[in-house]
Amino acid sequence: MGALQGRDLLSLADLTTDELQELLHLAAQLKAGTTKPRCEKILGLLFYKASTRTRVSFSAAMYQLGGQVLDLNPSVTQVGRGEPISDTARVLDRYLDILAIRTFDQRDLEAFASYAQIPIINALTDLEHPCQVLADLQTIQESFASLSGLTLAYMGDGNNMAHSLILGCAMSGINVRVASPPEYSPLEAVVQKAQAIANGKTEVTVTADPVAAVTGAQVVYTDVWASMGQEALAETRIPIFQPYQVSEVLLSHADKEAIVLHCLPAHRGEEITDAVIEGPQSRVWDQAENRMHAQKALLASLLGIA
Ligand code: CP
Ligand code: NVA
Repeated sequence: MGALQGRDLLSLADLTTDELQELLHLAAQLKAGTTKPRCEKILGLLFYKASTRTRVSFSAAMYQLGGQVLDLNPSVTQVGRGEPISDTARVLDRYLDILAIRTFDQRDLEAFASYAQIPIINALTDLEHPCQVLADLQTIQESFASLSGLTLAYMGDGNNMAHSLILGCAMSGINVRVASPPEYSPLEAVVQKAQAIANGKTEVTVTADPVAAVTGAQVVYTDVWASMGQEALAETRIPIFQPYQVSEVLLSHADKEAIVLHCLPAHRGEEITDAVIEGPQSRVWDQAENRMHAQKALLASLLGIA
């Protein structure tokens, strides 16, 4: 896995399909405890948005590897008062071994990466959430013999989660269908990139019809209808997204063995019903746990210790 040493992960598509499979294999080994890489490195967390899972799973993973974590809250660091990214990035580069950033604009993440030599990890931007998809794919792999040939239906907002999922599915041989209100479709550029990766071998489709998307799917996935930074739009979006709610009725159209995933935090009664998220097909707690294993694999690989 030394192949990823020193690299950045700004988009899931920064990995080759082979590298993605190798990371998932390492994540499974780390979860099983059959490999125990160690390091004395320092991970920085620079999060401009709230986080529970990403912050804690990255921290726990780094401590379990033997490293240290510095939480660089922007509200108490100079970057939050306007120190340029170019200056902050070059300074943090001298102290840290690796830096995970959660921010709004993908271009800010790219700016950090261009000024810092250390690996920069996308811990969520408005464009993508690649670390979540590493855990999602690990969770799907635990439920089915192989990723290849499965169908994943994503219901709702064509947001950061949808973008990384589309790419991750295309890279893993999973057919992916996104069902969104037409004005909330994923970015065409991301869909086209995924279609180029799939190269006609798997489906990458966007529809406004939730039943058509979910019919026969083995994985049904949803995320909030208003992401962080869009809170003011939440109320007006509810009636627009209501047909895409993952309910027992919608789920009845999926494969009988289908599993349900949600990156969390969830808004029960909006994008998913309480009955579904607490029901027998839900895998959301395993999915949340796998954030730690998948990111431990990512850290170990980027740091060149596994
Ligand atoms: N799924 C996820 O990224 O959760 P947090 O916002 O709590 O990190
Ligand atoms: N789309 C959500 C994901 C949260 C993990 C957001 O960006 O708020």
